Amino acid sequence: MKKIVINGPCRLEGEVEISGGKNAVVAILPATVMVRGKCVVENVPNISDVENILEILRYMGASVKKPDAKTLEIDCTDVTPCDVPYELTHRLRASYYFLGALLGRWKDATVAMPGGCSIGLRPIDQHIKGFESLGAKVQFERGNVHASCTSLVGSHVYFDQVSVGATINTMIAACLANGMTIMENVAKEPHIVDVANFLNSMGANISGAGTDVIKVRGVTELCGGSYAVIPDQIEAGTFMVAAAATRGDVTVKNVIPKHLECISRKLTEMNIKVVEFDDYVRVIGSGLIESTTVKTMPYPGFPTDMHPQMAVLMALADGTSRVTETIWESRFKYVDELRKLGVNISVSGNVVMIEGGAQLLGAPIRSCDLRAGAAMIIAGLVASGTTSIEEVEYIERGYENIIEKFRALGANILKVEEY
Ligand code: EPU
Repeated sequence: MKKIVINGPCRLEGEVEISGGKNAVVAILPATVMVRGKCVVENVPNISDVENILEILRYMGASVKKPDAKTLEIDCTDVTPCDVPYELTHRLRASYYFLGALLGRWKDATVAMPGGCSIGLRPIDQHIKGFESLGAKVQFERGNVHASCTSLVGSHVYFDQVSVGATINTMIAACLANGMTIMENVAKEPHIVDVANFLNSMGANISGAGTDVIKVRGVTELCGGSYAVIPDQIEAGTFMVAAAATRGDVTVKNVIPKHLECISRKLTEMNIKVVEFDDYVRVIGSGLIESTTVKTMPYPGFPTDMHPQMAVLMALADGTSRVTETIWESRFKYVDELRKLGVNISVSGNVVMIEGGAQLLGAPIRSCDLRAGAAMIIAGLVASGTTSIEEVEYIERGYENIIEKFRALGANILKVEEY
């Protein structure tokens, strides 16, 4: 069993380089299935979600090369239609993007239901609404989702719920539909824009990504090219909160400060100093941390994927703070783990109340899911004594070299394997 062991407390200091965005790359890589020709994808993070997608691409017959640590060359020209089985899809949520890509290219897709962190019900009805609006018939058969049609036809779809996955999946399929698709009430996250930019650089015709309405004018084919993935907004936010919580001074490099505003503004409200530069931010945590309230919302609101990390910072604040979670109904497993470290925290419905002024003491805890795991690391950095964190696999799904990055900032942190 793998564990992360932290001896705290520590003050983080120095520079950290942010990797390519997980939630962008996990959509871009499946979308390469639509492309005839070689796609060179740069700034790819070395995380297990990427490895799992590459395994699906190889299973489908794609040529996958890694000319250097951060670059992939993927050629799906000779891929033939095939079903994507449960053994490959259950490891990650983003395997559902193969539905849009296969449907777009062959008008026929069979993909086993996706897995992913257990943070809520995670329905896919809006993905299906998107595919059906393009003329596909969608059925559930023995744990598989099967979508097919004779031809995809551009149409008008209004999503009932703002969904990152449904927006991207419909946008991918619509690239190779006949005519124009208009998608309304779409998600606006930076990774939506990044996937649209990737597809456009391969020959698609998408406009409006980053606004409430996306228009996709169908083209007959996508051809190869090069594309660099945007920096990871949530990884950057995680290091920013860690800097604040440890009263540190950290320069978070290779970021797009605009994407971090929802996090930077909240930190500033909490009396943390955030200084923005062109492609880096410096976070200095000294003085009293003010309590605050946070409500998770689709972008540009405060990201749900920063909720558990922010709760750790709130535990150190002066007074009572509150997080209202509006996206994931089961994102509260971290609460019990923080209690083990001495945090006075409670949940009622979708509201978490956190008493500030906690003196955290190290203890054995669990990751529970990807972002909760990141929060446990921050808590371990703040806590006095030894904190050991189980279920490291969750963290490895989305954070590249997280141990090495924290160690370079001065943390006493290591990964151990126990047999
Ligand atoms: N929803 C529906 N129907 C749908 C799709 C979503 O009701 O068909 C609901 C969900 O239940 C949820 C809300 O809509 O309440 C938003 O879900 P969304 O579809 O936006 O989430 P997702 O695409 O499954 C992505 C990220 C998550 C991140 C959310 C919200 C990927 C692979 N995952 O999930 O990231 O929390 O958007 O921003 O992009 C993470 O990185 O740790 C993570 C969980």
